[in-house]
Amino acid sequence: MNRKPIFAANWKMNKGASETEDFIKSFLSKLQGQDFPCEIVIAPPSISLPKLADLLHNANAGQNAHAIQIAAQNCSQFDSGAYTGEISVLMLREFFVHYVILGHSERRAIYGETDAIINAKIKKAREANLKPIFCIGETLAEREGGKLESVLRTQITGGLDGVSEKDLGETVIAYEPVWAIGTGVTASSQQAQDAHAFVRSVIADLYGADAAAKIRIQYGGSVKPGNAAELMACPDIDGALIGGAALEPQSFLEIIRNGSAD
Ligand code: PGA
Repeated sequence: MNRKPIFAANWKMNKGASETEDFIKSFLSKLQGQDFPCEIVIAPPSISLPKLADLLHNANAGQNAHAIQIAAQNCSQFDSGAYTGEISVLMLREFFVHYVILGHSERRAIYGETDAIINAKIKKAREANLKPIFCIGETLAEREGGKLESVLRTQITGGLDGVSEKDLGETVIAYEPVWAIGTGVTASSQQAQDAHAFVRSVIADLYGADAAAKIRIQYGGSVKPGNAAELMACPDIDGALIGGAALEPQSFLEIIRNGSAD
């Protein structure tokens, strides 16, 4: 099965408009003339989306530029109205956003997002034709307590409840062990591959073998230039969701280059 790898930068709460501009100018000049067999996605803070959209609109229209897709880091599960501080899917669409990260462990742990909330957001995103990057992953205590598979299965079945096979086809899953996020500790390639194969088997149970073979599953958690190649060589790993190491243009580019080499 030919699944196009997807490398996504999750900047979290870093880079306002001016730092976004600095990054993009540098990144585009490094990217010039290179064509990687993968998708490249950047998820800035929402307040930097207009600047990113503006910069990429011109760049993506130019020749020799590898297209870069825009992702949001979150969206509301509601259409509009009295939801102070929230941003709707249609507002995101105005800035050419294609992807939205949902269910990130920081949203789950710090902001109390449940599987039901994440499920509502995934459905709302699909109504606006946004592609969810649906994050799942276990804590260290859960892994050490032998609960890895039950935690992942619960997150997947809860998050995708009522999501059609067609909408699943527009969804990317990101497996991010919580203990590897921002810690410098990466899952070994064997641990990551085993978890990815399990996630794919759960998708097969829910949607059938064909859907499971097609869905892209990114790995996330302390991905760096030095470990990208080994992780991406695993048969069930289809790209990466990168936090800290995607804040520098050179480091993000090296992850893409090392991770998409055959
Ligand atoms: P990290 O973050 O690469 O800094 O570990 C990954 C993520 O949270 O998506």
